[in-house]
Amino acid sequence: MTSEKQRVFVTRRLPQEILDRLNEHFDVDLWDSDLPPDAGNLRERVANADGIFCLLTDKIDADLLSAVPSLRVVSNMAVGTDNIDIVAATARGIPVGNTPGVLTETTADFAFALIMATARRIVDGDKYIRTGQWKTWGPNVLLGRDLFGATLGIVGFGAIGQAVARRAQGFSMRVIYTRRSPVPPPPGVDATSVSLVQLLQESDFISLHVPLTDETRQMIGSREMSMMKDTSILVNTARGGIVDQTALVDALKKGRPAMAALDVTAVEPIDSQDDLLTLSNVVITPHIASASVVTRLLMAHMAVDNLVAGLSGVPLPNCANPYVY
Ligand code: GLV
Repeated sequence: MTSEKQRVFVTRRLPQEILDRLNEHFDVDLWDSDLPPDAGNLRERVANADGIFCLLTDKIDADLLSAVPSLRVVSNMAVGTDNIDIVAATARGIPVGNTPGVLTETTADFAFALIMATARRIVDGDKYIRTGQWKTWGPNVLLGRDLFGATLGIVGFGAIGQAVARRAQGFSMRVIYTRRSPVPPPPGVDATSVSLVQLLQESDFISLHVPLTDETRQMIGSREMSMMKDTSILVNTARGGIVDQTALVDALKKGRPAMAALDVTAVEPIDSQDDLLTLSNVVITPHIASASVVTRLLMAHMAVDNLVAGLSGVPLPNCANPYVY
């Protein structure tokens, strides 16, 4: 007996074990590429689908949702869901899946890697050698900043922010944080809740861990940067839109903050001619904070779990809009 499988559109080439799982459950239409479909292709291919397995590079907006009345679940292989119009999805009764938890530690590791890379000038050191500048050990060569004893300001004290705070304890840092709805620090973490202004003024390192929402868009602008120390280092592993990037270029030229380390940019990929890339006091990586072999696989499995649940008519194990039910 053959039963007709539900149709899902998958917007990117995925590991074979993930495709095998998807094929087992669904009639899969795969966008078989390492690059995302453009808006036109996305719209054309998702038409008549029951579900979509998408990435943070796919814009799932109200127009797209209304063009696909058959759609019953959106499964995003990311914890962030700012690429999806959640209000429109909820209004249509569509649950949106995401992948919290599994990427928390991996992302916190990476925020710390950026803190250390900038503080201890790892990227500068690598360039220094490759460009033939290493002539001798020098008392003034590539001096950086100590982490121990420094103040780390964490903006957004959810799971990832707290995981960064835990790491900071091991480096003997003082940790301060802001969070919209105040929570005490988790057990074993010595951290103090402060206002954003105090955090900006006192931190040697400022690490951003808020989701991108209407409230957080460009929350770090020229005013906020003018309050930072001229020795401070701004680290962003959250979303580029949280920082006013034009203001950041200006601020970095003036040296306040002294440096920035960004895993995310306002537009991704950043244009190779962008002004930010002309500055030597910024380190940029291509949105890879969750990119460990194990974590990316776990994220993909979670996204499949969400799709399977949604198309079986049961609540998604990880749902960004649980009030849809
Ligand atoms: C990555 O940025 C994610 O939201 O999972």
